[in-house]
Amino acid sequence: MTEDDVTLVVSRLDTATSVTVITGAGLSAPSGVPTFRGTQGLWKNQRPEQLATPEAFAADPTKVWEWYNWRREQLAGCQPNKAHQVLSRWSRSSTPATVITQNVDGLHERADTARLLRFHGSIWELRCWHHCAAGETSWWDDTVPLVPCPPRCPHCNGIARPGVVWFGESIPQETLTRSLRAAHCDVFFTIGTSAVVHPAASLVHRAKQHGAFTVEINLEPTPASGDVDVSLQGSADQILLAIDEHRTT
Ligand code: OAD
Repeated sequence: MTEDDVTLVVSRLDTATSVTVITGAGLSAPSGVPTFRGTQGLWKNQRPEQLATPEAFAADPTKVWEWYNWRREQLAGCQPNKAHQVLSRWSRSSTPATVITQNVDGLHERADTARLLRFHGSIWELRCWHHCAAGETSWWDDTVPLVPCPPRCPHCNGIARPGVVWFGESIPQETLTRSLRAAHCDVFFTIGTSAVVHPAASLVHRAKQHGAFTVEINLEPTPASGDVDVSLQGSADQILLAIDEHRTT
């Protein structure tokens, strides 16, 4: 990352009338939340199809819930970091940024981010696995650990499932529509994501096609790096702070 890169990004931000950010697990890494891919990632020792698919849940809901309970326990001890705080400020500025997150950890919410689109749902929400009428609408439960395991739907007493989007499931239509709309913006950031899980990974390309100035922030190159206008290599919290310090709007 050079001073010139930061200056260019800041000048684009200062004149933008619309700003959109998509975040991934790397944004929460400085908070101590494990990422999914890479040498220390959750998918290093666990196969996603055995834990994060409807088929895995149908086969063994207790095993899947034990994994989610373990992650919820970890997350309960984590705090939003500087990157979450900067994005929260941007979401409340005079040109309010829309923040689309793939993260289910709840840290953007705890940093009080406005205009947040939770692309993959929330680990703190549950809904009825059996699609009972009242349990279709997810409910918030931050009890750690959840007891019993698996937890029950308060409406029909059937099994409840985590309110997250699993592999093979669709993004909720309203979230997808709003995210696609938000990709029509002046400046689009992709931060702390390996940019391999679609449709989230497509948004930066869509933004670019619609004329957005695109910026990536990541510790390492990703499949999106070659397509963005500026690729800033480093930790999301430090780079966002550096950009934020130079902003005038
Ligand atoms: P990944 O684990 O795939 O990627 C995390 C990215 O963050 C990597 O590219 C790292 O290089 C980068 N990174 C790590 N620490 C960073 C830091 N301090 N600053 C900046 N970048 C950093 O996570 P996601 O891309 O979010 O899906 O994964 C996408 C989806 O795959 C997740 O939402 C989840 C997962 O399976 C579902 O749960 C449906």
